[in-house]
Amino acid sequence: MNYKELQKGLPWLPLSIKMLFTGYLLTIGFGLLMAGAQIMLTHGMADGKPGLSVDDIVYSYYGNRNGSTLEAKLNGSMKNNAPPQVRIEIIKWARAGAPAKDWDSRFKNIFETHCTACHHAASSLPDFSKLENVQQRASIDTGISFTSLTKVSHVHLFGIAFIFMLMGAIFVFAVGIPEWIKATLVVIPFAFLIIDVISWWLTKLNPEFAWITIIGGYGYSLASAAMLFISLYQMWILPWKPAKKHNPNT
Ligand code: HEC
Repeated sequence: MNYKELQKGLPWLPLSIKMLFTGYLLTIGFGLLMAGAQIMLTHGMADGKPGLSVDDIVYSYYGNRNGSTLEAKLNGSMKNNAPPQVRIEIIKWARAGAPAKDWDSRFKNIFETHCTACHHAASSLPDFSKLENVQQRASIDTGISFTSLTKVSHVHLFGIAFIFMLMGAIFVFAVGIPEWIKATLVVIPFAFLIIDVISWWLTKLNPEFAWITIIGGYGYSLASAAMLFISLYQMWILPWKPAKKHNPNT
């Protein structure tokens, strides 16, 4: 195969190239679905409700700075497990940062009396006979750490840019689409990817930016889905359409 053959466009590629492109596009399409499912299951559940919302993004990146998990649970589903004055004592201690000096003298006992019947090592729940497990839930949730954010940012940018590059490289050989539309479509995913990653950082600093993350995510998902479907359609359905007006050979 040479460049001339490629230039005729996707519908008229040799079978081997079509198979290669199709294998890649189907795998990427499957990957996109899995990525979507993962986002729904991790970020989507961050606010405790299914489905991705602005709150989920805020909780994931900015955190829930209204209070600790421990405090929220003691005012919520764990309310009946300790009398009010004990709960207030735990909450005060948690707000003070759950200092270790009070553990052996006081709180180890409180947790053993009221909590470790369920929260013990053999249970699937956090083991509250250990101070570090309690402290972890007593700290205010400030969302993803900067270390993790730098990591996911560069992995995302490098990894996904590569996917968009190959996807775009296939799509540019589509036929019958005005050059300016093609030019726009191939660059949109990159633009939204950069916006998306920048928005994580902005949301980490200020929750008002969370909606940009949602727009960025939908933006590049839609643009890549469009390229994927157009490419597959042109390779496998268009050549068998009755009016072969695109065929440069006829
Ligand atoms: C009767 C059993 C039981 C007792 C007693 C109990 N818990 Fe729980 N706890 C659970 C269950 C079940 C969950 C998971 C469901 C939920 O989050 O509501 C849980 C979840 C939690 C969580 C959330 C853990 C996480 O990281 O997801 C915290 C915090 C918590 N409990 C605190 C306490 C404290 C503090 C006490 C003692 C005052 C206590 N619990 C007593 C059964 C219990």
